[in-house]
Amino acid sequence: MAERKAYLDLGNGQPPIELPIYSATMGPDVIDIRSLGKHGVFTYDPGFMSTASCNSSITYIDGDAGILLYRGYPIEQLAEHADFMEVCYLLLNGELPTGSQRHDFDNTLRKVSMVHDQINNFFRGFRRDAHPMASMVGVVGALSAFYHDSFDIADPRHREISAFRMLAKVPTIAAMSYKYNIGQPFVYPQNRLGYVENFMHMMFATPCEEYVANPVLVRALERIFILHADHEQNASTSTVRLAGSSGANPFACIAAGIASLWGPAHGGANEAVLKMLEEIGDVSNIPDVIARAKDKSNPFRLMGFGHRVYKNFDPRANLMRKTCHEVLNELGMQDDRLFKTALELERIALEDPYFIEKKLYPNVDFYSGIVLRAIGIPVNMFTAIFAISRTIGWISQWSEMIADPEQRIGRPRQLYCGAEQREFVPIGKR
Ligand code: CMC
Repeated sequence: MAERKAYLDLGNGQPPIELPIYSATMGPDVIDIRSLGKHGVFTYDPGFMSTASCNSSITYIDGDAGILLYRGYPIEQLAEHADFMEVCYLLLNGELPTGSQRHDFDNTLRKVSMVHDQINNFFRGFRRDAHPMASMVGVVGALSAFYHDSFDIADPRHREISAFRMLAKVPTIAAMSYKYNIGQPFVYPQNRLGYVENFMHMMFATPCEEYVANPVLVRALERIFILHADHEQNASTSTVRLAGSSGANPFACIAAGIASLWGPAHGGANEAVLKMLEEIGDVSNIPDVIARAKDKSNPFRLMGFGHRVYKNFDPRANLMRKTCHEVLNELGMQDDRLFKTALELERIALEDPYFIEKKLYPNVDFYSGIVLRAIGIPVNMFTAIFAISRTIGWISQWSEMIADPEQRIGRPRQLYCGAEQREFVPIGKR
């Protein structure tokens, strides 16, 4: 697999170290530096700006060209023509399903969407005002206590069963987190409903009133799920892989991913965008916000702008912007105050030299929050929606890692900058 070699001269009089270079199917090649430790040096790469932590065949991103592919298929085509079940099957299995494969996959998930009755009791331990993500981290991790029958991670069938359980139950737990938060009874999943519609039913129905979903809104939420389904080795996915590399059970690993996703620089961004737009209040305040975002002495950042990988545009943002228009038109909300503020903020920022020079463009979360809000999803559920969507990515990446013969426990090294070895001084002599 190594066609070329790189040579690293450490400047210590020793011959250069030979390092194999591996070719990627698409995108940058990688230099295999695993042998460096034997020569007494490590690489230094905080934030993994130049480090490939694994090999993967799931998702490809070209940040400069704005390309995102799931198993080779462009996100634009999947968002336009596929449904979320097809995308889940694709990510997990590597190929698009046939009609009967899709039917069986969907059917299996429908049958396992209900959670064990004891799960209800976990919620009662939380304060009613607990953030839904706080409950989700705890309750998804708690699934570990229920499914010992499928914990042999070396067995592909067990991994598949865990994947089905996770995919089917995470929306149920997310909706329960919300219902608990607002003091309403939990609403059970309905096997007759599709994945997205079922989630909306668990969110918005009550024992007293049925919820009939608007197909335009179902499709919009489905698109949000598809666009967020996987994104290569991002912070939460890398967290899932690192947790799983020790052989931890998949429910615990996904709970770790949910914890990582919660941060405002990652999945918490769409919630932060909405809060920012609310705070801006009026378009006349936008210049002040832009000035604060540019001020180096101020930690404030324009939420929903910038991306570690996409440096020209985020292809998901283009699709989400379109969905935003569709949803607001359907609901007669074209004059929505927040949407107008968002469009004006986008216009001003895109013309500003600071944002142009730093290649800061609206990312998917700039628009997804506006769509979710229009659908009726409360702001504190936004990151939970992201977690539902990303569960398929996490579980696919986890499965791929466990099946990889090169997989070893993740154990980064460090550049130690602390004190040199010194003698202990007893407390009375310090
Ligand atoms: N507003 C103002 N300045 C910014 C912003 C922003 N949103 N994002 C980056 N910058 C500046 C930053 O200050 C830095 O300036 P300088 O070079 O003078 O120090 C420069 O641009 C590069 O920023 P960075 O922090 O080194 O870039 P990064 O790749 O580490 O960070 C990011 C990427 C997404 C964390 C960051 O752009 C950010 O905090 N954006 C706002 C939060 C956000 O929208 N996150 C959602 C990401 S999309 C969802 C997902 O995939 O998880």
